[in-house]
Amino acid sequence: MKLARRVQRIQPSATLQVKEKALRLKREGRQVVDLTAGEPDFPTPAHICRAGEQAIREGFTRYTANVGIPELREAIVAKLARDNGLHFTPEQVIVCNGAKHALANAILAIVEEGDEVVIPAPYWVTYPQLVRLAGGRPHIIDTLADGGKLTAELLSANLAPSTAAVLLNSPANPTGVVYTEQELSWLAEVLADHSCWIISDEIYEKIIFDGLRHVSPAHFARLAARTVVINGVSKAYAMTGWRIGYAAGPKPLIQAMARIQSHTTSNASAISQRAALAALTGPEEPIEAMRRAFQQRRDFLVQQFTRDGRLRFVHPRGAFYLFVDISPLLGKMTPEGPLNAAADVATFLLNSEGLVVVPGEGFGAPSHVRISFAAGMDQLELGVGKLFRCVDQLLTSRP
Ligand SMILES: Cc1ncc(COP(=O)(O)O)c(C=O)c1O
Repeated sequence: MKLARRVQRIQPSATLQVKEKALRLKREGRQVVDLTAGEPDFPTPAHICRAGEQAIREGFTRYTANVGIPELREAIVAKLARDNGLHFTPEQVIVCNGAKHALANAILAIVEEGDEVVIPAPYWVTYPQLVRLAGGRPHIIDTLADGGKLTAELLSANLAPSTAAVLLNSPANPTGVVYTEQELSWLAEVLADHSCWIISDEIYEKIIFDGLRHVSPAHFARLAARTVVINGVSKAYAMTGWRIGYAAGPKPLIQAMARIQSHTTSNASAISQRAALAALTGPEEPIEAMRRAFQQRRDFLVQQFTRDGRLRFVHPRGAFYLFVDISPLLGKMTPEGPLNAAADVATFLLNSEGLVVVPGEGFGAPSHVRISFAAGMDQLELGVGKLFRCVDQLLTSRP
């Protein structure tokens, strides 16, 4: 039986393939250190869980408005004003099944066949796949030579009449880079001359280090009317399984997204919406405690890699990933053959030391691997030891 061509346009997740192999090794009794997590390793704070439990007890278990319960949309409006200085009305907000779903709705509402979407690389794996699913063409800009950030020069050289949108992500997965207000204002200046959308993925907003402040591109007057802010509770509140994300933007776009959502998923889980409401209106201490823990782990990894000095990395200012340049290992010989790309390096780390990291190919960076520090310090210490033993072995072997 025939399947739709759109399925062939998209690739399965590289992360899942590595994880499946790691699970196999674990079942065989091998010690495996898994540093692939894309989610906080902390439990959802108790007061948020209680709100979910209460929703069930009250029988708040039916369909809600497609775009989300009014209280939650209002809480999102208040959060955007309080944290980001952004002013929206509840009609400019839609609650979705996770930030990924909010992104999918936005891309399906914006991108037409043949449209280009500018995506700085390294990028989160899902962006180009969603653009392809919508019939568009990802226009990838490699930013590694510029430290992992899109510059005004790069952006200006890559915008075209066919550019329907530019996708920005700060703090970023997989590099942890954070755009400063000044850097965003330079991008805003370039974008002022082009009538394209800005899709701003701000899901890691709360996981930010060194006293930096998150700034949204929607903060710039010249971009506000064509920016859609994507955010959610998954990462900040350790709520990945609850599946609540949201988008805020111009009303016609939000209405278009609502139309798509009304015929695909309908509302996000009623129970989770109540829990998300408790998250957004409750105490911020639990978030701050998690943020501090992530920063300590970031400091530990940066110190270890700096002291070792053999592999370079992008210095993460946010999120929970260290993006490591493994190019000194490429071309090295192993019993299974030469290491030609990050996927081979990841397989070598897994086979020889039971260390699981995500190869960079899926992020548009085939000479890097991503190490997640959403893992306890004991796992990070073990993981770094394993990685450096592999590097010892490879760098002393003949090419
Ligand atoms: C950059 C980025 N955006 C969005 C998401 C998806 O978030 P959610 O779990 O709310 O769908 C992720 C999850 O890994 C992510 O890394």
